[in-house]
Amino acid sequence: MSETPDGKSIRDRLRAPADTGAANSGGDSRGSDVTDASFQQTDSRAELASHGRDERQHSAPSAPVAHAIQEPRKADLSEAEARSAERKVAALFVLSFLGVIGFVVTFFVAPFKFTERDNIYFTPLLALFMTLALAGIGAGAVLWAKTLMVDEEAVQERHGFASEIEERDATGQALVQGFEQTGLARRSLLRNTLLLGAGSLALLPLPLLLDLGPYAHKEDRFRTTAWKKGVRLVRRNGTPIRIGDLALGSLETAYPDVPGGVQMADTPTMLIRMRPEELKPRKGREDWSVDGHIAYSVICTHLGCPVKLYEQQTHHLFCPCHQSTFDASNGAKVLFGPAARNLPQLPIYVDDEGYFVAKSDYTEPVGPSFWERKS
Ligand code: FES
Repeated sequence: MSETPDGKSIRDRLRAPADTGAANSGGDSRGSDVTDASFQQTDSRAELASHGRDERQHSAPSAPVAHAIQEPRKADLSEAEARSAERKVAALFVLSFLGVIGFVVTFFVAPFKFTERDNIYFTPLLALFMTLALAGIGAGAVLWAKTLMVDEEAVQERHGFASEIEERDATGQALVQGFEQTGLARRSLLRNTLLLGAGSLALLPLPLLLDLGPYAHKEDRFRTTAWKKGVRLVRRNGTPIRIGDLALGSLETAYPDVPGGVQMADTPTMLIRMRPEELKPRKGREDWSVDGHIAYSVICTHLGCPVKLYEQQTHHLFCPCHQSTFDASNGAKVLFGPAARNLPQLPIYVDDEGYFVAKSDYTEPVGPSFWERKS
């Protein structure tokens, strides 16, 4: 069994309180003192496993058993091997640090923009660097434990849950000794690179907290969208929608003709055509539609599912998620279901070239009602 710098093993520490006659009782009157008899040194893990099975089959549940096994590793036998292992662990911690730096630099130096063709690497790079940061620190810790920390396993069957004060004291001592066994006090390279790698992890959430995303309307991102006066309605492929393109009773999904408009989550809008006499515009919105064409947000005001099922005879719009139903001919008023608000309407007109254009942004919040309750 390998020994710690102070000459004590886990077995010694577990047994030590028993020597004082009070510890390891496990808070149970049956006691769980670890005695010499309760430790059984084994030659191999297979033997330990088989022995453990026997114990479970033949021992009373109240009999605590602890095993200690240890096979010398290269780092236990050679200081050169130990230093080599330390360098490998340090390299992984440094790799973690580089991952954090790469993540932060990628976020701020090459920020994502909808208009750039080559920034398809932005998200994969962030994922790669975050993986390096987390995997580096994790792999380093595992390698450190496997190669440099004391290689000892102890299994102690315990009873009860509350610990006696003596046992808590013993645990505190064990923790202190455990820290000493990490070798951090002696191995300055390991300690410094661990601080570098683990400490820099705190930087990871910073970019995400400072910037919620590359949206165009940062000034008030929960209440505004990319729609604004003069912005054309375009299809997903970017072609503008002209009056006369839609057949009577049909629906077309429209996006704002701005950079990244088709990718923004809050901009999808449905343009519906019905007979002009079928429209019952809400008060003050008489000029928000054009010749039977009317535009509503696609995003359900309940929980945000896309509302695109249009029934042309009744002009009902159905949300497939929880069956909220809206009346497209009457300001997308809620007819049924859990949605608390009408679908927001986008005011539109037709420009000199015959294309549909927004008169303004939505005048009420788009999306689930929990964002905003004023309308
Ligand atoms: S998300 Fe539309 S009804 Fe629930």
